[in-house]
Amino acid sequence: MHKVIYDTDPGVDDAMALLFLHRHPEIDLIGITTVFGNASIETTTRNALFLKREWNIAAPVAKGASVTIDPSRKEGMWPTFVHGDNGLGNIDVPATIDLPLDPRPAYRFIIETVRANPGEVTLVAVGRMTNLALALKEDPEIAGLVKQVVIMGGNFYVPGNVTPVAEANIHGDPEAADIVMTAPWKVVVIGLDVTAITTMSRSFLGDIARSGDDAVKLLNDLSQFYIDFYKHAVEDGMMVHDSCASVYVVAPELFTSVTGAVRVVCGGIADGQTVVKPDGRRFPPGDWDGLPSQIVCTGIQSDKVLDLIRTTL
Ligand code: BDR
Ligand code: CA
Repeated sequence: MHKVIYDTDPGVDDAMALLFLHRHPEIDLIGITTVFGNASIETTTRNALFLKREWNIAAPVAKGASVTIDPSRKEGMWPTFVHGDNGLGNIDVPATIDLPLDPRPAYRFIIETVRANPGEVTLVAVGRMTNLALALKEDPEIAGLVKQVVIMGGNFYVPGNVTPVAEANIHGDPEAADIVMTAPWKVVVIGLDVTAITTMSRSFLGDIARSGDDAVKLLNDLSQFYIDFYKHAVEDGMMVHDSCASVYVVAPELFTSVTGAVRVVCGGIADGQTVVKPDGRRFPPGDWDGLPSQIVCTGIQSDKVLDLIRTTL
């Protein structure tokens, strides 16, 4: 059984990944932590509570960061054109959800849950890396107690999606991402190299919804706005970014990867760019030296990933 804390900014593709984690029989979802990103922290947290209620998810929800780890960074606009004004494709969501939040801030929930389950917890992080970086700053020893960190973020050998060189989750808090990538824990980076080529068609999801229960029907409804947004890049379908990270937890054999030190560019024209120095490649001494070797996914069996999502949902 994989014990998972899901760090998320729901978010349409976040919702699909959540339902996967909730439903997969080998995953024990032990916590949901929220972060700003696809919408404000108030909205992403409300959405997490809404999905918890609608899908009968037992895991507690802990509210996380509302701004970047470096407070001098100016906050951008929410990507309402991607996920809708309410972060869930503009379906009807009540303004408030009558469910309690975990009393702890997300970073503290992460620290205490990891310490209570040493060596067992997988962190699946699919938004800004702010909560993870805050947890590391507060308690660096957790790096040695986490089983692995699987993140959706970054791009290595393909263009970005918010700038020519940067992906949204990393660009939204580059300093936090650099802290996470360079910490002495096992990080698996699932970036646009693999998520942008893993696309689900409207009819594929519609078929799952037709033969599924109310939970999948809700997922189908809230995905329509996001599918419409993707018409510039995908033929009547969507990139299922965050679900690729969820799938990795149970099926890493569907991915190929390189290993190496990973850094994030902080500032300037390449703000938020992710860079890997592949193991075995020699360069003059520099900013990659002595850093832990992380796993950067460069290949994916998209059809099998989509099939696993279908059967799990
Ligand atoms: C990432 O950004 C968000 O829009 C998605 O939820 C995903 O986590 C893709 O770049
Ligand atoms: Ca996300």
